[in-house]
Amino acid sequence: MTIKFGIIGLGNRGSKFALHTLIPHGDIEVVMVNDARGNHFELFAEKGIATTTDYRVLLENPEVEAVFIATPDDTHGEIVLEAIKHQKHIICEKPLEISEEKVRELEVALKDYPKVFLVGYVLRYAPLYAKAKELIASGIIGEIFLANGIDHIDYGGYAFFHDWHRTQAKAHSLLLQKSTHSLDILNWLIDAEPTQVAGLGGLEVFGEPGAVRKFGGPLMEPLNCRSCPLQYECEESLLNVKLHKGKDWQADWPDNCVFESEIDVQDHQALLVNYRNKVKLTYSICHFSAYYRREFQFFGTKGELYFDDERNKIIVDDRLKAEKLEYTIIDNGGHGGGDEEMILEFIRCVKEGCQPRSNLTSSASVTRLVLGAQKAIDDNRIVAIESGR
Ligand SMILES: NC(=O)c1ccc[n+]([C@@H]2O[C@H](COP(=O)([O-])OP(=O)(O)OC[C@H]3O[C@@H](n4cnc5c(N)ncnc54)[C@H](O)[C@@H]3O)[C@@H](O)[C@H]2O)c1
Repeated sequence: MTIKFGIIGLGNRGSKFALHTLIPHGDIEVVMVNDARGNHFELFAEKGIATTTDYRVLLENPEVEAVFIATPDDTHGEIVLEAIKHQKHIICEKPLEISEEKVRELEVALKDYPKVFLVGYVLRYAPLYAKAKELIASGIIGEIFLANGIDHIDYGGYAFFHDWHRTQAKAHSLLLQKSTHSLDILNWLIDAEPTQVAGLGGLEVFGEPGAVRKFGGPLMEPLNCRSCPLQYECEESLLNVKLHKGKDWQADWPDNCVFESEIDVQDHQALLVNYRNKVKLTYSICHFSAYYRREFQFFGTKGELYFDDERNKIIVDDRLKAEKLEYTIIDNGGHGGGDEEMILEFIRCVKEGCQPRSNLTSSASVTRLVLGAQKAIDDNRIVAIESGR
């Protein structure tokens, strides 16, 4: 059985996922693509795939059975609601949406939805995280009461502060954009709903505080890396990030200056989270890290479990015996092998009518957590997380 797909949003994620994961897959045929700006149309038109700038035209196409939605976060709700009307199987990129109201609206609209609905929390499908889940669920470290997660982001200046991710109006926060992956993994491994969150955060290296620190005052006019006279010395210019860190994902990568005053998302944050099963979590993210790594640590009644996605190793230390177990994970492909595994599960769910691992309940839970966390930081208080419905 071949599943006929339509792609909505052909930016960085949509075009790459379509070209590298969906189109090469033997059980999938991409029959139509959409992008409001016609982004990357030529890459699909040359393969004979129909294009449209209106996603409604794609959804009205009866040939399209499943859609992959990779538009900016604040458009997910509207497009998912429209796809539901046309009874499509849906993969919606993370996060579910950018407000609690929209999350609630989607929960209502997707209740008892007869088709598959999967949210792109792709790490749940990567072998490293799946093995950590299996080990913890097996009771290898006993009952967990404490956990810790750290996101070291060394490409914050490249990926988040040049484009729409940098304003709360478009992105809400980088907790929602980036931390959401690690927090979803933590929710999954802790295996309970978060109930309370407290946090601290700030913007110091990018945006106006960064400009004040670097130039002694805010920028007087908008700047773009490619025409900026300082691009040769600025450590955040696209030129230097390419030269020194090898980051060069796309020739037309947005190049708005990362020191502009419109930037209002935070570049470092720390959270404390309480879970229904008594687990307490500390989590932090830094967008000006020296290296890229996700680290996780769990403390249980029988021992500790640590892993990170740089060494791809899970280390289990027994608390009572001086015993250490190490598991090395081999992975291939996008997102630590998660892209490919996610599609395999989606196809299985379409064929067998099963519920995907990254589903409405789990994605609504992590979205409520990150929205609550930003509120906790902004209002300087502990925020209660609403339970899913
Ligand atoms: N799962 C992951 O690991 C992962 C990785 C990267 C991005 N994402 C998610 O993918 C989504 C897209 O991110 P991106 O980095 O590709 O952004 P992007 O800005 O590169 O691309 C977004 C594309 O959507 C198009 N678009 C905007 N509004 C539209 C609309 N109403 N209808 C049709 N097209 C529209 C734009 O023209 C653009 O080409 C985001 O939700 C992001 O969080 C997920």
